[in-house]
Amino acid sequence: MNLSITIAGVRFPSCFMNAAGARCVTREELEALGRSQSGAIVTKSMTLEPRQGNPEPRYYGFPSGSINSMGLPNLGYRAYAQIIPDLKRFQKPVIASVAGFGEEDFVTIAATINECRPDLIEVNLSCPNIPGEPQIGYDAEASERLLKRVRKVVSVPMGVKLPPYFDPAHQEAMARVLERVGVDFLSLINSVGNGLVVDPEREAVVIKPKGGFGGLGGTLIKPVALANVRAFWKLFAGRLPIIGTGGVISGVDAFEHLLCGASAVQVGTVLVEEDLGVFERLERELASVLARKGYDSPAACRGKLKEL
Ligand code: SIN
Repeated sequence: MNLSITIAGVRFPSCFMNAAGARCVTREELEALGRSQSGAIVTKSMTLEPRQGNPEPRYYGFPSGSINSMGLPNLGYRAYAQIIPDLKRFQKPVIASVAGFGEEDFVTIAATINECRPDLIEVNLSCPNIPGEPQIGYDAEASERLLKRVRKVVSVPMGVKLPPYFDPAHQEAMARVLERVGVDFLSLINSVGNGLVVDPEREAVVIKPKGGFGGLGGTLIKPVALANVRAFWKLFAGRLPIIGTGGVISGVDAFEHLLCGASAVQVGTVLVEEDLGVFERLERELASVLARKGYDSPAACRGKLKEL
């Protein structure tokens, strides 16, 4: 089955791709994504200067998910500005993920990266792992100020990666911001920030940064991710493309994201755990679910979730 999709006028050969952060920091990792069956190459969120990230251990997988506090390890935007044009040869969309520590950083990075013509730019307002730096996406006014400035320097399709929201009032406030800014797609959701996993045998936390607090991913966050995809799908009446992220471990999980309104899905935890072969498995599994349900494409079931 053809699993291709279109977001903001850009065609993706498959609706599955990596989430920013998973196996996408170095040139080698990005090229490996290019050779894989991933439907796109999404870069690690880039900052002004190269970063080693937080001290290790900073990732821990467990049966129902993962916790991480990577701290934005990345090569710095100048390096990605060199790498992105070389990724074009893989003939699949490149999504550049932009982060920063303050409005000025975001604007500088976005302006330079826009000149390299990635197919899309994803503005990350939701990294929970930098000590002393709150997630911008939880501050609607700061998000609006920042996005309005970034919007002015970005001419490729621009999306926003948001943190999970747990109350409709917060989703509605952010939707109004996004309408005023004018964005082309959403990535929902980043990890569920500042969770805590305890190892009872060692009587200890499992990651080092921030006293063990970190972003949760994987199966345990799927209901939160689905809720955010569904809420924003409804708030925009299906007009704004959404890339669903969170808890996609199988083709059925991806199908659930599509039903809630996602156009495509990103994978993080399962990509870290299973490596690049995961894309082939997920595509096979989703194609089988869609065929069994009588849908001929991912778009055919998008948003079709029934309410009781
Ligand atoms: C990290 O590098 O700490 C994760 C990135 C993110 O959550 O945006």
